[in-house]
Amino acid sequence: MKLILGVDTSCDDTGVGLVDLETGEVRANVVASQDDVHAAFGGVVPERASREHLAVIDATFDRALERAGATRDDVHAVAATYGPGLVGALLVGLTWAKAFAWARGRPFRAVHHLEGHVASAGPPEAGVPELCLVASGGHTSLFRIDAQGVPSELGRTRDDAAGEAFDKVARLLGLPFPGGPALADLATKGQPDGIDLPTPLKGQDGFDFSFSGLKTAVAVHLERDPNVPRADLAAAFEDRVVASLVNTLTRAAERFGIDRVVVVGGVAANARLRAALEATDLTVRMPLPGLATDNGAMIALAARNAWLRSGTIALPIDADWSRDASPYLPLDEALRAAS
Ligand code: KG4
Ligand code: ZN
Repeated sequence: MKLILGVDTSCDDTGVGLVDLETGEVRANVVASQDDVHAAFGGVVPERASREHLAVIDATFDRALERAGATRDDVHAVAATYGPGLVGALLVGLTWAKAFAWARGRPFRAVHHLEGHVASAGPPEAGVPELCLVASGGHTSLFRIDAQGVPSELGRTRDDAAGEAFDKVARLLGLPFPGGPALADLATKGQPDGIDLPTPLKGQDGFDFSFSGLKTAVAVHLERDPNVPRADLAAAFEDRVVASLVNTLTRAAERFGIDRVVVVGGVAANARLRAALEATDLTVRMPLPGLATDNGAMIALAARNAWLRSGTIALPIDADWSRDASPYLPLDEALRAAS
Protein backbone atom coordinates (compact mmCIF):
# COMPACT_ATOMS: atom_id res chain seq x y z
CA MET A 1 0.00 0.00 0.00
CA LYS A 2 1.33 3.45 -0.96
CA LEU A 3 -0.25 6.34 0.91
CA ILE A 4 -0.08 10.12 0.97
CA LEU A 5 -0.36 11.52 4.49
CA GLY A 6 -2.23 14.83 4.64
CA VAL A 7 -2.32 17.12 7.68
CA ASP A 8 -4.48 20.18 8.37
CA THR A 9 -4.18 22.23 11.56
CA SER A 10 -5.19 25.60 10.12
CA CYS A 11 -7.79 26.40 12.75
CA ASP A 12 -9.26 24.38 15.60
CA ASP A 13 -9.49 20.86 14.21
CA THR A 14 -6.58 18.43 13.99
CA GLY A 15 -7.08 16.65 10.65
CA VAL A 16 -4.99 13.67 9.55
CA GLY A 17 -5.89 11.84 6.34
CA LEU A 18 -4.41 8.97 4.34
CA VAL A 19 -5.06 8.83 0.60
CA ASP A 20 -4.04 6.08 -1.81
CA LEU A 21 -1.24 7.47 -3.93
CA GLU A 22 -2.21 5.53 -7.03
CA THR A 23 -6.03 5.70 -7.00
CA GLY A 24 -6.79 8.79 -4.90
CA GLU A 25 -9.08 6.76 -2.66
CA VAL A 26 -9.47 8.15 0.87
CA ARG A 27 -8.30 5.33 3.16
CA ALA A 28 -8.66 7.23 6.43
CA ASN A 29 -9.74 10.69 7.50
CA VAL A 30 -9.60 11.37 11.22
CA VAL A 31 -10.49 14.78 12.64
CA ALA A 32 -9.94 15.51 16.33
CA SER A 33 -12.42 18.26 17.16
CA GLN A 34 -11.59 20.96 19.69
CA ASP A 35 -15.18 22.17 20.02
CA ASP A 36 -15.25 21.27 23.73
CA VAL A 37 -12.06 23.23 24.37
CA HIS A 38 -13.38 26.46 22.79
CA ALA A 39 -17.12 26.23 23.55
CA ALA A 40 -16.77 27.93 26.94
CA PHE A 41 -15.23 30.98 25.20
CA GLY A 42 -17.85 31.16 22.42
CA GLY A 43 -15.14 31.07 19.73
CA VAL A 44 -11.68 29.74 18.90
CA VAL A 45 -8.88 30.79 21.28
CA PRO A 46 -5.73 30.63 19.09
CA GLU A 47 -3.21 29.73 21.81
CA ARG A 48 -5.42 26.95 23.14
CA ALA A 49 -5.85 25.65 19.58
CA SER A 50 -2.05 25.36 19.06
CA ARG A 51 -1.54 23.54 22.36
CA GLU A 52 -4.38 21.16 21.65
CA HIS A 53 -3.02 20.30 18.17
CA LEU A 54 0.32 19.45 19.76
CA ALA A 55 -1.34 17.30 22.41
CA VAL A 56 -3.41 15.17 20.01
CA ILE A 57 -1.58 15.03 16.67
CA ASP A 58 0.40 11.81 17.35
CA ALA A 59 -2.68 9.97 18.56
CA THR A 60 -4.73 11.28 15.61
CA PHE A 61 -2.11 9.94 13.20
CA ASP A 62 -2.14 6.56 14.98
CA ARG A 63 -5.93 6.40 14.67
CA ALA A 64 -5.71 7.20 10.95
CA LEU A 65 -3.13 4.42 10.40
CA GLU A 66 -5.35 2.01 12.29
CA ARG A 67 -8.42 2.92 10.20
CA ALA A 68 -6.46 2.47 6.97
CA GLY A 69 -4.97 -0.82 8.21
CA ALA A 70 -1.58 0.69 7.47
CA THR A 71 1.78 1.27 9.16
CA ARG A 72 4.20 4.21 9.02
CA ASP A 73 6.13 2.37 6.29
CA ASP A 74 3.11 2.67 3.97
CA VAL A 75 3.38 6.49 3.96
CA HIS A 76 5.23 7.37 0.74
CA ALA A 77 4.59 11.10 0.61
CA VAL A 78 3.55 13.82 3.03
CA ALA A 79 1.58 17.06 2.71
CA ALA A 80 0.44 19.70 5.16
CA THR A 81 -1.43 23.00 5.11
CA TYR A 82 0.93 26.01 5.33
CA GLY A 83 -1.73 28.74 5.16
CA PRO A 84 -3.93 30.65 5.50
CA GLY A 85 -4.99 30.12 9.10
CA LEU A 86 -3.94 30.71 12.70
CA VAL A 87 -0.16 30.90 12.62
CA GLY A 88 0.50 28.93 15.81
CA ALA A 89 -1.96 26.23 14.80
CA LEU A 90 -0.52 25.99 11.28
CA LEU A 91 3.01 25.69 12.67
CA VAL A 92 2.17 22.58 14.68
CA GLY A 93 0.85 20.50 11.76
CA LEU A 94 3.34 21.85 9.22
CA THR A 95 6.39 21.25 11.43
CA TRP A 96 5.14 17.84 12.55
CA ALA A 97 4.54 16.74 8.94
CA LYS A 98 7.87 18.12 7.68
CA ALA A 99 9.70 16.33 10.49
CA PHE A 100 7.98 13.03 9.68
CA ALA A 101 8.76 13.34 5.96
CA TRP A 102 12.37 14.42 6.56
CA ALA A 103 13.06 11.62 9.03
CA ARG A 104 11.69 9.03 6.61
CA GLY A 105 13.17 10.53 3.42
CA ARG A 106 9.78 11.11 1.84
CA PRO A 107 8.75 13.93 -0.51
CA PHE A 108 6.93 16.76 1.20
CA ARG A 109 4.48 19.29 -0.19
CA ALA A 110 3.10 22.41 1.50
CA VAL A 111 -0.54 22.93 0.48
CA HIS A 112 -2.76 26.02 0.44
CA HIS A 113 -5.83 25.38 2.61
CA LEU A 114 -8.26 26.44 -0.15
CA GLU A 115 -6.56 24.15 -2.67
CA GLY A 116 -7.43 21.41 -0.18
CA HIS A 117 -11.10 22.43 -0.09
CA VAL A 118 -11.18 22.61 -3.90
CA ALA A 119 -9.78 19.05 -4.10
CA SER A 120 -12.15 17.68 -1.43
CA ALA A 121 -14.91 16.61 -3.84
CA GLY A 122 -12.51 14.45 -5.85
CA PRO A 123 -11.55 14.79 -9.52
CA PRO A 124 -14.03 16.50 -11.90
CA GLU A 125 -15.28 13.33 -13.62
CA ALA A 126 -17.57 15.29 -15.97
CA GLY A 127 -14.61 17.42 -17.01
CA VAL A 128 -13.54 21.05 -16.85
CA PRO A 129 -14.18 23.95 -16.92
CA GLU A 130 -16.06 23.82 -13.68
CA LEU A 131 -17.14 26.46 -11.17
CA CYS A 132 -16.11 25.95 -7.55
CA LEU A 133 -17.79 27.65 -4.60
CA VAL A 134 -15.81 27.47 -1.37
CA ALA A 135 -18.03 28.43 1.57
CA SER A 136 -16.43 27.83 4.95
CA GLY A 137 -15.86 29.54 8.29
CA GLY A 138 -12.78 31.36 7.04
CA HIS A 139 -13.47 31.80 3.31
CA THR A 140 -16.17 32.39 0.76
CA SER A 141 -14.90 32.52 -2.81
CA LEU A 142 -16.00 31.54 -6.27
CA PHE A 143 -13.41 29.95 -8.54
CA ARG A 144 -13.28 28.82 -12.11
CA ILE A 145 -11.35 25.59 -12.56
CA ASP A 146 -9.81 25.00 -15.93
CA ALA A 147 -7.50 22.34 -17.28
CA GLN A 148 -5.45 20.42 -14.74
CA GLY A 149 -7.56 21.55 -11.82
CA VAL A 150 -5.95 24.94 -11.24
CA PRO A 151 -8.44 27.40 -9.69
CA SER A 152 -8.68 31.09 -10.65
CA GLU A 153 -10.76 33.40 -8.49
CA LEU A 154 -13.89 35.12 -9.90
CA GLY A 155 -15.06 36.70 -6.65
CA ARG A 156 -14.76 36.55 -2.89
CA THR A 157 -16.39 37.89 0.23
CA ARG A 158 -15.77 41.55 0.94
CA ASP A 159 -16.21 41.03 4.69
CA ASP A 160 -17.33 37.95 6.63
CA ALA A 161 -17.21 34.41 5.28
CA ALA A 162 -20.58 32.62 4.98
CA GLY A 163 -19.78 30.18 7.81
CA GLU A 164 -18.50 33.03 9.97
CA ALA A 165 -21.84 34.83 9.46
CA PHE A 166 -23.67 31.63 10.47
CA ASP A 167 -21.54 31.43 13.62
CA LYS A 168 -22.00 35.11 14.53
CA VAL A 169 -25.76 35.14 13.92
CA ALA A 170 -26.07 31.91 15.91
CA ARG A 171 -24.39 33.72 18.78
CA LEU A 172 -26.84 36.63 18.47
CA LEU A 173 -29.65 34.08 18.70
CA GLY A 174 -28.12 32.59 21.86
CA LEU A 175 -27.17 29.29 20.20
CA PRO A 176 -24.14 27.26 21.34
CA PHE A 177 -20.75 27.16 19.56
CA PRO A 178 -20.16 26.05 16.81
CA GLY A 179 -23.16 27.97 15.55
CA GLY A 180 -23.62 26.92 11.92
CA PRO A 181 -25.17 23.48 12.48
CA ALA A 182 -27.18 24.74 15.50
CA LEU A 183 -28.63 27.63 13.49
CA ALA A 184 -29.47 25.31 10.57
CA ASP A 185 -31.26 23.04 13.01
CA LEU A 186 -33.32 25.88 14.50
CA ALA A 187 -34.11 27.18 11.00
CA THR A 188 -35.88 23.93 10.09
CA LYS A 189 -38.56 24.92 12.64
CA GLY A 190 -39.16 28.42 11.20
CA GLN A 191 -40.65 30.23 8.21
CA PRO A 192 -38.23 32.41 6.20
CA ASP A 193 -40.66 34.64 4.28
CA GLY A 194 -42.37 36.77 6.94
CA ILE A 195 -39.15 38.47 8.07
CA ASP A 196 -37.79 41.51 6.26
CA LEU A 197 -34.09 40.78 5.66
CA PRO A 198 -32.06 41.76 2.59
CA THR A 199 -30.41 39.34 0.15
CA PRO A 200 -26.77 40.56 0.06
CA LEU A 201 -25.43 42.19 -3.17
CA LYS A 202 -28.64 41.25 -4.94
CA GLY A 203 -28.31 43.51 -7.97
CA GLN A 204 -24.54 43.21 -8.46
CA ASP A 205 -22.91 42.47 -11.76
CA GLY A 206 -19.77 40.82 -10.35
CA PHE A 207 -19.27 37.66 -8.31
CA ASP A 208 -18.42 38.95 -4.86
CA PHE A 209 -20.16 38.10 -1.61
CA SER A 210 -20.92 40.06 1.54
CA PHE A 211 -22.50 38.82 4.74
CA SER A 212 -21.78 41.35 7.47
CA GLY A 213 -24.66 43.66 6.44
CA LEU A 214 -27.08 40.76 6.69
CA LYS A 215 -25.66 39.89 10.11
CA THR A 216 -26.22 43.51 11.24
CA ALA A 217 -29.77 43.40 9.85
CA VAL A 218 -30.46 40.37 12.07
CA ALA A 219 -29.04 42.23 15.09
CA VAL A 220 -31.22 45.29 14.35
CA HIS A 221 -34.26 43.05 13.95
CA LEU A 222 -33.64 41.47 17.35
CA GLU A 223 -33.15 44.85 18.98
CA ARG A 224 -36.37 46.30 17.56
CA ASP A 225 -38.45 43.24 18.25
CA PRO A 226 -36.96 41.07 21.02
CA ASN A 227 -40.00 38.78 20.81
CA VAL A 228 -39.52 37.90 17.13
CA PRO A 229 -39.76 34.09 16.76
CA ARG A 230 -36.10 32.98 16.74
CA ALA A 231 -36.75 30.05 14.43
CA ASP A 232 -38.28 32.39 11.81
CA LEU A 233 -35.33 34.78 12.07
CA ALA A 234 -32.89 31.86 11.73
CA ALA A 235 -34.80 30.53 8.70
CA ALA A 236 -34.88 33.99 7.05
CA PHE A 237 -31.15 34.54 7.62
CA GLU A 238 -30.28 31.10 6.24
CA ASP A 239 -32.61 31.66 3.29
CA ARG A 240 -30.89 34.95 2.32
CA VAL A 241 -27.38 33.46 2.64
CA VAL A 242 -28.42 30.55 0.44
CA ALA A 243 -30.10 32.89 -2.08
CA SER A 244 -26.95 34.99 -2.30
CA LEU A 245 -24.69 31.95 -2.84
CA VAL A 246 -26.98 30.27 -5.36
CA ASN A 247 -27.81 33.48 -7.31
CA THR A 248 -24.13 34.30 -7.71
CA LEU A 249 -23.36 30.76 -8.77
CA THR A 250 -26.14 30.59 -11.37
CA ARG A 251 -25.19 34.02 -12.75
CA ALA A 252 -21.59 32.92 -13.16
CA ALA A 253 -22.76 29.69 -14.78
CA GLU A 254 -24.74 31.70 -17.34
CA ARG A 255 -22.04 34.30 -17.93
CA PHE A 256 -19.31 31.72 -18.58
CA GLY A 257 -21.50 29.01 -20.08
CA ILE A 258 -20.37 26.50 -17.45
CA ASP A 259 -23.07 24.37 -15.84
CA ARG A 260 -20.81 22.07 -13.84
CA VAL A 261 -20.39 23.19 -10.27
CA VAL A 262 -18.58 21.90 -7.21
CA VAL A 263 -19.52 23.26 -3.77
CA VAL A 264 -17.09 22.70 -0.89
CA GLY A 265 -16.30 23.96 2.64
CA GLY A 266 -18.20 23.58 5.90
CA VAL A 267 -21.30 25.41 4.65
CA ALA A 268 -21.69 22.78 1.89
CA ALA A 269 -23.12 20.61 4.68
CA ASN A 270 -26.12 22.97 4.89
CA ALA A 271 -29.37 21.22 3.93
CA ARG A 272 -31.15 24.35 2.64
CA LEU A 273 -28.19 25.10 0.37
CA ARG A 274 -28.18 21.53 -0.92
CA ALA A 275 -31.92 21.67 -1.65
CA ALA A 276 -31.61 25.05 -3.43
CA LEU A 277 -28.80 23.73 -5.61
CA GLU A 278 -30.82 20.66 -6.52
CA ALA A 279 -33.62 22.95 -7.73
CA THR A 280 -31.30 24.61 -10.30
CA ASP A 281 -30.29 23.26 -13.72
CA LEU A 282 -26.70 23.01 -12.58
CA THR A 283 -24.84 19.71 -12.34
CA VAL A 284 -23.58 19.85 -8.78
CA ARG A 285 -20.84 17.86 -7.08
CA MET A 286 -20.23 17.97 -3.35
CA PRO A 287 -17.68 16.35 -1.06
CA LEU A 288 -18.61 13.18 0.77
CA PRO A 289 -19.68 13.69 4.39
CA GLY A 290 -16.57 14.35 6.46
CA LEU A 291 -14.67 15.89 3.58
CA ALA A 292 -16.61 19.21 3.45
CA THR A 293 -15.38 20.58 6.78
CA ASP A 294 -11.65 20.93 7.52
CA ASN A 295 -9.77 17.65 7.31
CA GLY A 296 -6.41 16.11 6.38
CA ALA A 297 -7.54 13.92 3.48
CA MET A 298 -8.37 16.96 1.33
CA ILE A 299 -4.78 18.20 1.81
CA ALA A 300 -3.44 14.83 0.64
CA LEU A 301 -5.84 14.93 -2.35
CA ALA A 302 -4.63 18.43 -3.31
CA ALA A 303 -1.00 17.34 -3.07
CA ARG A 304 -1.77 14.31 -5.21
CA ASN A 305 -3.36 16.56 -7.87
CA ALA A 306 -0.30 18.82 -7.86
CA TRP A 307 2.04 15.85 -8.16
CA LEU A 308 -0.04 14.42 -11.01
CA ARG A 309 0.09 17.82 -12.78
CA SER A 310 3.86 18.00 -12.49
CA GLY A 311 4.15 14.41 -13.71
CA THR A 312 6.24 13.25 -10.78
CA ILE A 313 6.09 12.84 -7.05
CA ALA A 314 9.86 13.16 -6.72
CA LEU A 315 9.78 16.93 -6.38
CA PRO A 316 13.16 18.58 -5.93
CA ILE A 317 13.63 17.51 -2.36
CA ASP A 318 14.11 21.03 -1.01
CA ALA A 319 11.13 22.52 -2.87
CA ASP A 320 8.81 22.72 0.08
CA TRP A 321 10.98 22.33 3.18
CA SER A 322 11.55 26.07 3.35
CA ARG A 323 7.88 27.00 3.04
CA ASP A 324 6.83 28.53 6.34
CA ALA A 325 3.44 28.90 8.00
CA SER A 326 1.64 31.85 6.36
CA PRO A 327 -1.42 33.21 8.16
CA TYR A 328 -2.27 35.54 5.25
CA LEU A 329 -1.97 33.76 1.92
CA PRO A 330 -4.01 34.68 -1.19
CA LEU A 331 -4.52 31.55 -3.30
CA ASP A 332 -3.40 33.04 -6.62
CA GLU A 333 -0.07 34.16 -5.12
CA ALA A 334 0.46 30.74 -3.58
CA LEU A 335 -0.24 28.96 -6.87
CA ARG A 336 2.17 31.26 -8.72
CA ALA A 337 4.87 30.57 -6.15
CA ALA A 338 4.31 26.81 -6.41
CA SER A 339 4.41 26.59 -10.20
O1 KG4 B 1 -14.55 24.39 6.21
P1 KG4 B 1 -14.74 24.52 7.67
O2 KG4 B 1 -14.72 23.26 8.51
O3 KG4 B 1 -13.68 25.43 8.33
C1 KG4 B 1 -13.07 26.54 7.76
O4 KG4 B 1 -12.14 26.37 6.92
O5 KG4 B 1 -13.49 27.63 8.15
O6 KG4 B 1 -16.13 25.29 7.88
C2 KG4 B 1 -16.63 25.53 9.16
C3 KG4 B 1 -17.81 26.47 9.01
C4 KG4 B 1 -18.31 27.00 10.34
O7 KG4 B 1 -18.46 28.39 10.23
C5 KG4 B 1 -19.64 26.29 10.52
O8 KG4 B 1 -20.55 27.06 11.26
C6 KG4 B 1 -20.09 26.10 9.09
O9 KG4 B 1 -18.92 25.78 8.38
N1 KG4 B 1 -21.08 25.02 8.99
C7 KG4 B 1 -22.35 25.20 8.62
C8 KG4 B 1 -22.99 23.94 8.69
N2 KG4 B 1 -22.06 23.03 9.11
C9 KG4 B 1 -20.89 23.71 9.29
N3 KG4 B 1 -23.00 26.30 8.22
C10 KG4 B 1 -24.29 26.16 7.89
N4 KG4 B 1 -24.97 25.01 7.94
C11 KG4 B 1 -24.37 23.88 8.33
N5 KG4 B 1 -25.04 22.73 8.37
ZN1 ZN C 1 -11.49 25.27 5.72
